[in-house]
Amino acid sequence: MNGDFTLYTPTKVVFGHDVETRAGELVKAFHGTRVLIHYGGSSAERSGLLNRVEDSLRAADIPFVSLGGVVPNPRLEKVYEGVALCREFGVDFILAVGGGSVIDSAKAIAYALGEPEHDVKELYEHTRTPKACFPLGVVLTIAASGSEMSDSSVISYEDKKRGVNSDLCRPKFALMNPALTATLPAYQTAAGCSDILMHTMERYFVNGHRMELTDAIAEGLLRTVMRYAKVLRDDPENYEARAEILWAGSLSHNGLTGCGNDANDFASHRLEHELGALYDVTHGAGLTAVWGSWARYVMKNCLARFVRFATNVMQVEPGKTDEETAIKGVEAMEDFFRSIGMPTNLSELGVNPTEDEIKLLAKNCAIATNGKVGSAMPLYEADMEAIYRMAAK
Ligand code: NZQ
Ligand code: ZN
Repeated sequence: MNGDFTLYTPTKVVFGHDVETRAGELVKAFHGTRVLIHYGGSSAERSGLLNRVEDSLRAADIPFVSLGGVVPNPRLEKVYEGVALCREFGVDFILAVGGGSVIDSAKAIAYALGEPEHDVKELYEHTRTPKACFPLGVVLTIAASGSEMSDSSVISYEDKKRGVNSDLCRPKFALMNPALTATLPAYQTAAGCSDILMHTMERYFVNGHRMELTDAIAEGLLRTVMRYAKVLRDDPENYEARAEILWAGSLSHNGLTGCGNDANDFASHRLEHELGALYDVTHGAGLTAVWGSWARYVMKNCLARFVRFATNVMQVEPGKTDEETAIKGVEAMEDFFRSIGMPTNLSELGVNPTEDEIKLLAKNCAIATNGKVGSAMPLYEADMEAIYRMAAK
């Protein structure tokens, strides 16, 4: 209630040209002696990145074993596969080469290795809190999740998508070369930019205490991401724009843009996670598909923040009333999402839920949030259902 906060960002960031070639040096600096290189589908192989990282470990005399095949919305089965491989090979350090999905899978493996007597699934089920985690590092290939500096890991299993938060899993280092993100498909670039915006907006639309400096940082970050997202839409190889977006991705989700908040919101994220669980949608696109509906639903409960957002971030002309100004801000953000090819409702996302599915989404979201989520407006199951229904219209 008074702006007290703790900011813990222990991750060493090494940013710029060719930094992936320093993977071996960094692993060594953090005492890794036997490494699992964890990666996704084919992009890191195709680009030659994987070879460069392997060469860097060889040059540092660090033995490694590799495991690819992490899918977007990463699966628990792959985590178990990684754990078995790590035990067999005696791995003491995990190197994630990829995006949020790879990093989150690496974090889950690291948790499992840290507490071998337990099933790591219990952490995601929230029946146990983590007490130990093996060290991990990151070679980042997509600006989006912020997992390279965050305390979070999100894993999918059965029909669930669940996150666990703990400082234990914050990566030791993140190697961030903006050029590596230039091979992203336009849709992934745009979805990543949207996720970055959302990580700050989830901390911005809150009731209670807010610091002016935190607001200024948040608003600057949001304006910068929107500006350079459009540059990348038209000029995907633009290094400067890739660099701005890559750095914004980390700062948006390492805690900085919420310093001094009484609470963060994260309702849009929790609503999206159920869409990811049921329909396997791209995370950033799922977020933009529900955000406008969420905003209209909660706006009256957090009006001053929406007015400030409309004015300082979206820079719209004030309307006749605060409500009008706030709505203009939401519409401007939706226009922006559309301008970079992101959906603003569920049908544009390619999802047309039945009434039963809407109820199921809300029920699962309520279960995952212990019945309540949000700061702009606390949402309960009936509210979640109403927002899904609005987004499905
Ligand atoms: O698998 P490959 O072939 O590498 O392809 C990936 C994947 O298809 C591709 N890609 C990545 N880098 C590339 C590239 N393609 C070409 N060139 C490159 N340089 O992009 C696709 C998406 O990758 P993914 O890792 O899934 O993206 P993102 O970073 O958006 O991660 C999404 C996951 O992170 C979770 C999401 O829920 C989702 O599961 N989140 C994790 C968070 C955290 N740990 O802090 C916070 C977020 O809010 C989010 O929930
Ligand atoms: Zn996100």
